[in-house]
Amino acid sequence: MWRILCGIGVLVAIVHPLAESRAVRRRGGAELQLDNYLSYDGIMQYLDQLALAHSSRMTLKDVGRTYENRALKMAMITNGDGRSGKRVIFLDAALHSREWMTPAAALLTIHKLVVEFEENSDLLADYDWHIMPLANPDGYVYSRNTERYWRNTRTPNGGNCFGTNLNRNFAVNWKEGFPQLRDPCDENYAGSSPFSEVEARTVRDIMHGLVESKRAVMYLSLHTANRSVFYPWVYNTAPVPNQEEHDEIGKFVADRIFQSTGTIIKTWQYALYDGTFGGTSMDYALLAGFPLSFVFEMSGTGRDNVEYKFFPPARDIRHLAEESWTGIKAFAAKAIEKYPPSRAISHNQMVELPKNAAPTIRGFNSMVGTVCIFFLYLTSVLN
Ligand SMILES: *[C@@H]1O[C@H](CO)[C@@H](O)[C@H](O)[C@H]1NC(C)=O
Ligand SMILES: [Zn+2]
Repeated sequence: MWRILCGIGVLVAIVHPLAESRAVRRRGGAELQLDNYLSYDGIMQYLDQLALAHSSRMTLKDVGRTYENRALKMAMITNGDGRSGKRVIFLDAALHSREWMTPAAALLTIHKLVVEFEENSDLLADYDWHIMPLANPDGYVYSRNTERYWRNTRTPNGGNCFGTNLNRNFAVNWKEGFPQLRDPCDENYAGSSPFSEVEARTVRDIMHGLVESKRAVMYLSLHTANRSVFYPWVYNTAPVPNQEEHDEIGKFVADRIFQSTGTIIKTWQYALYDGTFGGTSMDYALLAGFPLSFVFEMSGTGRDNVEYKFFPPARDIRHLAEESWTGIKAFAAKAIEKYPPSRAISHNQMVELPKNAAPTIRGFNSMVGTVCIFFLYLTSVLN
């Protein structure tokens, strides 16, 4: 009886993904929708299909679960040459859930690197990309369905107040800066402790993994809609050790965007521009050992020159995502030029790394398959 069930299990585990990938290939791969803002399910489905259709160059990794138990996924992109341990550009989007253009830009980035691979192969020759297109899914679903301006996670804070600002939850001068960081009902709430939020811990563990394996080069966090490139520090007005490098990359990005669309992007050390406060992922990445760390505040201005901030009309999604890709591509090109494989990186780690790495959650199919093959083997040996 068990053998028959397991036999079926093994067959399903093998046949099901094959059938699915054939179906995706028949449809000519996954189509990226930029005519509307995608739902959480729409984003997950697109990522699944793309990973199936381009399995030699994209792996979709389950990196964690949100407070409301949604999957956190990261696309790991290579050029498929089989060389492991390449340096990595780590990009995340939608830590702030109302910034709807950021997942769209992250998905377009994935599309450019995986589908339009030939045109962008320079960006993958010596570098891999790790991209989290939706770093705060609970907040994103809530922003889409209930309260558009929702910025935070959905963790209860007691009373009638919910949510922590993920970009205040990192362990860098945590809670220091201004009073709202300590107000559990405010959209700047920094959380009940540093890294109280599983979504922030997930991003942290990815950073630490890349530093420990000496692959970390650039962390790039997408936000809207200030039309700026920011570099650290946020918590301190002192310059970072490689301030000139950061400034040069920021100005290069701004120049490329201006030449392509005429949009003006400003480059700043954040603290000199808008005051000091703690808890940001950008500061944390540099402290953890990334030599380069940026926030890219993309534009929210429509082609009609109206400032739409977080919610540009659907007809502008494609244009703004393409403009952002021009910027992201420039970030990467300049970072790769500055950090060729021949340049050693010291990965100056200024914070303590935790012992336990993030757990990997394997796909159910492969788990059933593995368990059942083992069971079949055991029973045949024991008989
Ligand atoms: C960016 O933020 C600053 C300070 O909060 C504000 O003065 C400025 O107008 C913003 N720029 C855009 C384009 O939203
Ligand atoms: Zn933001």
